[in-house]
Amino acid sequence: MGLLEDKVGLVTGAGRGIGRETALVFGREGARVVVADVDFEAAKETAALVEAEGFEALAIEVDVADEASVERMIASTLERFGRLDCASNNAALGAGFRPSTELDRARWDRCLAVTLTGVWLCAKHEIPAMLATGGGAIVNISSLSGIKGQVRQAAYAAAKGGVIALTRSLAAEFATRGIRVNSVAPGGIETDGLAAYFADNPQIVESTKAVHAMRRLGRPHEIADAVAYLCSDRSSFVTGEVLHVDGGITINAHDA
Ligand SMILES: NC(=O)c1ccc[n+]([C@@H]2O[C@H](COP(=O)([O-])OP(=O)(O)OC[C@H]3O[C@@H](n4cnc5c(N)ncnc54)[C@H](O)[C@@H]3O)[C@@H](O)[C@H]2O)c1
Repeated sequence: MGLLEDKVGLVTGAGRGIGRETALVFGREGARVVVADVDFEAAKETAALVEAEGFEALAIEVDVADEASVERMIASTLERFGRLDCASNNAALGAGFRPSTELDRARWDRCLAVTLTGVWLCAKHEIPAMLATGGGAIVNISSLSGIKGQVRQAAYAAAKGGVIALTRSLAAEFATRGIRVNSVAPGGIETDGLAAYFADNPQIVESTKAVHAMRRLGRPHEIADAVAYLCSDRSSFVTGEVLHVDGGITINAHDA
């Protein structure tokens, strides 16, 4: 029996990368899956991949920074599946790599709107849907950037730090009402986005791997598996937790 048998799970930013892998893992673990992304074609592709493995999926177009769009996402989920048990709030947008003093306000605002406010808006509308059937589990995707900060990525790091504080606040607020809220903080993960960045900056490939104690990048399924665990009843006493899935970035791997 799968970790998420009989559950309905929603993944934002599921059109590619970690979100796509999470949708696939949700399906394999027994969930019916809502695949939501601002890129509707990409969401439909992911839903087709889930269905090709024999599982049920619904593709939805959503802009997580737009509350009306988020409300429609939850309404469509309930219309199709009648319930919502777990959600991975995974959609995010960086503000580009540039010195903080050269970052313009519009990029800062959009990064915060999608990466932090979007997580809050999703949780705001997921929680009532979950409460209607007795509870649920939310996993917000943060980042090691939100814990350690990141050179030339201040907006993104600030947003991800906010996701961690938001996660803990929501966890505290709903702990007695059957809602668990946790976060997964990935290290560097092999996605198309990271591959494109490496293609433009080949000089940082080895140094990026080197900051991970395991001396390698993670794979999308390594994040998806952690999300599935935190969405499942196997983590029933875990809330407000930030699970680092980072190959040991935060431990001192220096060989003295
Ligand atoms: N890849 C990494 O190394 C890494 C490291 C740490 C944290 N993360 C986090 O993991 C998550 C997934 O990362 P990824 O590399 O797969 O991301 P990605 O950039 O490849 O994919 C993000 C997805 O979100 C969608 N999206 C963007 N804006 C949206 C919006 N307004 N509404 C709905 N969907 C929107 C995009 O269309 C895309 O499909 C993100 O939260 C990211 O910040 C990734």
